[in-house]
Amino acid sequence: MSKNPLREGLVTERIPAPCTVVIFGASGDLTKRKLLPALYNLAVSRLLPPGASVVGYARREKSDTQFREEQKANVAQFSRRKPVDEAIWNDFAQGLFYVAGTFEDPKGYAKLKETLDRLDRERGTRGNRLYYLSVPPSEFGVILERLREAGLVSGPDAANFSRVVIEKPFGSDLSTGEALNHKLLSVFDERQVFRIDHYLGKETVQNLLVFRFGNSIFEPIWSREHVDHVQITVSEDIGVEGRGKFYEEAGTTRDVVQNHLLQIMSVMAMEAPVAFDADSVRNEKVKVVRALRPIVTREDVAKHTVRGQYDAGTFNGQAVPGYRQEPDVPSDSRTETYVAIRAHVDSWRWGGVPFYMRAGKRLNKRITEISLHFKKVPHALFAATAGEVEPDVLSIRIQPDEGISLRFMSKVPGPTQTLRPVTMDFRYAGSFGETGPEAYERLLLEAMLGDATLFARNDEVRAAWEWITPMHEAWKELPAPREYAAGSWGPQESDDMLHADGRHWRRL
Ligand code: BG6
Repeated sequence: MSKNPLREGLVTERIPAPCTVVIFGASGDLTKRKLLPALYNLAVSRLLPPGASVVGYARREKSDTQFREEQKANVAQFSRRKPVDEAIWNDFAQGLFYVAGTFEDPKGYAKLKETLDRLDRERGTRGNRLYYLSVPPSEFGVILERLREAGLVSGPDAANFSRVVIEKPFGSDLSTGEALNHKLLSVFDERQVFRIDHYLGKETVQNLLVFRFGNSIFEPIWSREHVDHVQITVSEDIGVEGRGKFYEEAGTTRDVVQNHLLQIMSVMAMEAPVAFDADSVRNEKVKVVRALRPIVTREDVAKHTVRGQYDAGTFNGQAVPGYRQEPDVPSDSRTETYVAIRAHVDSWRWGGVPFYMRAGKRLNKRITEISLHFKKVPHALFAATAGEVEPDVLSIRIQPDEGISLRFMSKVPGPTQTLRPVTMDFRYAGSFGETGPEAYERLLLEAMLGDATLFARNDEVRAAWEWITPMHEAWKELPAPREYAAGSWGPQESDDMLHADGRHWRRL
């Protein structure tokens, strides 16, 4: 029987080799909310290898028992499966350990090495290590150096594996992004680096690949021949949630557009890969980002981008503060909490098709969606009184209410020739009953397996910074972001940008 790599990659259950996951920054929020609950859920799903171990590394002194108790409370609160299954937890907790140390002190790494060696002997983890750097990027350099000095990194072709997982931000512009890469690649080989973009771990983003390349009817219409334009929205209703300091440096463009939005855009727009493996998929994705038409001059940036910043408003009937009243945000901040971009992918498939992309905080609702807006019918066949023939829209809802809908025109039953748009809907919840695993479960598992398909490669990150950095430069010279009321759909100028092209944002 012929092999279908696409299907195999997504369906086959794979169990990683025994290994230890070392979490730097084990007392942080990510560990508590995402990493430990994800590891526990992998245990519940029986996807962890026998002997799988987790070592938390952080500054404060703590015993293994204390660490286990703390994590149990975290898992009880944040796991998608509740309540915690005592038997599975007890078994999983046998594999949880803690090492106290600072990121600088070589003594901490010596203790870590002792612990890891002991786990290799006692739990059979065979020298396989996955280092998860759940720490600010400013700490990456010293941790990588110390790991190497302590002899804790083996080469990419060694029998045992050493891998490193890092979280965004991967730098803040082209030059800092490059510096970070340089640091990483001076200790690890690219094959050992797993850059997390949790959007790639979302089931719906993966399903986009299946939808496009596991069916034959969509691909032929997935191009400039049929598509008038594409819209991508990553809208959040929450504000900066106490992360004012971080957000001041990031802004929406660095926080969401450079990574999550461009990642889903490249999956949506890429050519079919020759196989479903890390390099084939990422080779195609990076071409899309490279094909983005540069938006460089001040005039172009002013014309093709709109920035906004939320002002006070209401959310769920409650008054909420504006961005500049948030903790740690200066009252004259020019940081954007909203951005809309009119982009073009200069490729054979997409030539002439605008990609309107927007992302922001404190918008009207939480929704991430890609929509393909098809061309108008070429000839008005029905009487003007029949109602307007609206172009068909295929929308892929990444979250929430994950699913895919097709909007098309239909005749209203009855003797008159009246037309109205209707939708054909697929909803995950309806078809599959349960929602899938959390992004971090899938991504941790893939990193343990050594499959980097769902992780960002260095050239993708670089290409994204190449496109984004000139905008940041130009914005410094352009007027401050426009204000928009919290709970609205962003600044009027964003609507105006589409109106100027005779289009409008899809009502979500
Ligand atoms: C993170 C950003 O990467 O993604 C946050 O730093 C944002 O600002 C979050 O809220 C959105 O993720 P999700 O999965 O809730 O859409």
